Amino acid sequence: MKVDVLLGLQWGDEGKGKIVDVLTPNYDLVARFQGGPNAGHTLEFEGQKYVLRSIPSGIFQGGKINIIGNGVVLDPALFKAEVEALEASGHDLTRRLYISRKAHLILPTHRLLDAAYEAQKGSDKIGTTGKGIGPAYTDKISRNGLRIGDLDYNFEEKYKQAIARHEELLHQLHFEYDLASLEKDWFEGIESIRRFRRIDSDHFINKELTENKKVLAEGAQGTMLDIDFGSYPFVTSSNTICAGACTGLGVAPSKIGEVYGIFKAYCTRVGSGPFPTELLDETGQKMRDLGYEYGSVTGRPRRCGWIDLVALRYAIMIDGVTQLIMMKSDVLDTFDTIKACVAYEMDGRETEDFPFEIDDSLQPVYVELPGWKTDMTKMQSEDEFPEEFNAYLSFLEETLGVNIKIVSVGPDREQTIIRYTE
Ligand code: GDP
Ligand code: IMO
Ligand code: MG
Repeated sequence: MKVDVLLGLQWGDEGKGKIVDVLTPNYDLVARFQGGPNAGHTLEFEGQKYVLRSIPSGIFQGGKINIIGNGVVLDPALFKAEVEALEASGHDLTRRLYISRKAHLILPTHRLLDAAYEAQKGSDKIGTTGKGIGPAYTDKISRNGLRIGDLDYNFEEKYKQAIARHEELLHQLHFEYDLASLEKDWFEGIESIRRFRRIDSDHFINKELTENKKVLAEGAQGTMLDIDFGSYPFVTSSNTICAGACTGLGVAPSKIGEVYGIFKAYCTRVGSGPFPTELLDETGQKMRDLGYEYGSVTGRPRRCGWIDLVALRYAIMIDGVTQLIMMKSDVLDTFDTIKACVAYEMDGRETEDFPFEIDDSLQPVYVELPGWKTDMTKMQSEDEFPEEFNAYLSFLEETLGVNIKIVSVGPDREQTIIRYTE
């Protein structure tokens, strides 16, 4: 079998966690392939709400195996807190959650360095989640990282060397910190990691594929936050795109099957950086209020705006999306008019291609569509869709060139409408 990939097409928080949970019954194995606890994936079912950061979102569906892949950076302290919260709510993870020995560790000093670099950037700061993501990936790329597999090989010595190097950097940055308090939680987290099966996930996943098992790769962040193709430098430090599933799990490009691209019916972004369709008016505030657009990790208000089809088309191209999933259309249920950005006007000319740089001179070119003005949150099938909503779907499918397979009309697992089956 092949690996199907589900990933965000915008600036993250599209609703990946919810849909991975919905799709998991069709798979044998779910694997996170990149990112770390900068992610916050929310799931709601049976009146309960869970936010996952490092643990894949397939963990709640029966006995499916969930893997933290080699492309992930793992913070032991946050991992332990996540495990404990899930176990306290009655979910036993021990036999279902495996961790790649090639996944990298986020050290306590990575978090300090993240804060120090942000402070140094001042008003140019990225607005990171403060979880040490950038510094951990920097160490990985500069060949200084510590991996889960190192826990079994001279770990104390490797840890001490890395910390000494980081402390020197923190000293150069004149950053004040209290490492001891962070280290206590961190080492308790290491013990928590030791409880789980640490595997060669590359071999494991490929073997499962040859045995006809179905694998779902769970993306984190979004395509516009990708280190190569996102709105650099206001991006995360990893490849969030479909190709990241190959490097983050050790599966060949020829083994990729369906690519599910997930997007909101509008657009949000947390942190700094360009956002062509951002609305700083009451319409943006209405989206924030109705969509409850506050970060699931940091609680920061998310910036809101109209859907950006220029950026979406670009993401679909980079990811090779085969099926689309539209989230949170219910947030627009009361709007009279829906706008969609179909081009950018720059330097007096229109472009439909996502540009190298976005500056203040850029103006979005909008198409206006009539709102459907119907509460869709209890709908169960596409037969119930209002005419205007169908027109909106057709317009998106035509402009984006890919079919919309799933429409999500609320945060709950049940509020999900699958439009067609292959
Ligand atoms: P992820 O990071 O892509 O998994 O997304 P987040 O969990 O960070 O953010 C998505 C938010 O929208 C969460 O609070 C979800 O519970 C919520 N959500 C998901 N789908 C829908 C939907 O269709 N409608 C509404 N109103 N909320 C949704
Ligand atoms: P999920 O998986 C939304 C953003 C941060 C910041 C930039 C860099 O829940 O969709 P980092 O801490 O990664 O160095 O921050 O990336 N960011 C996210 N925004 N959702 C996420 O994950 C994000 N992960 C990182 O806000 O702008
Ligand atoms: Mg999120």
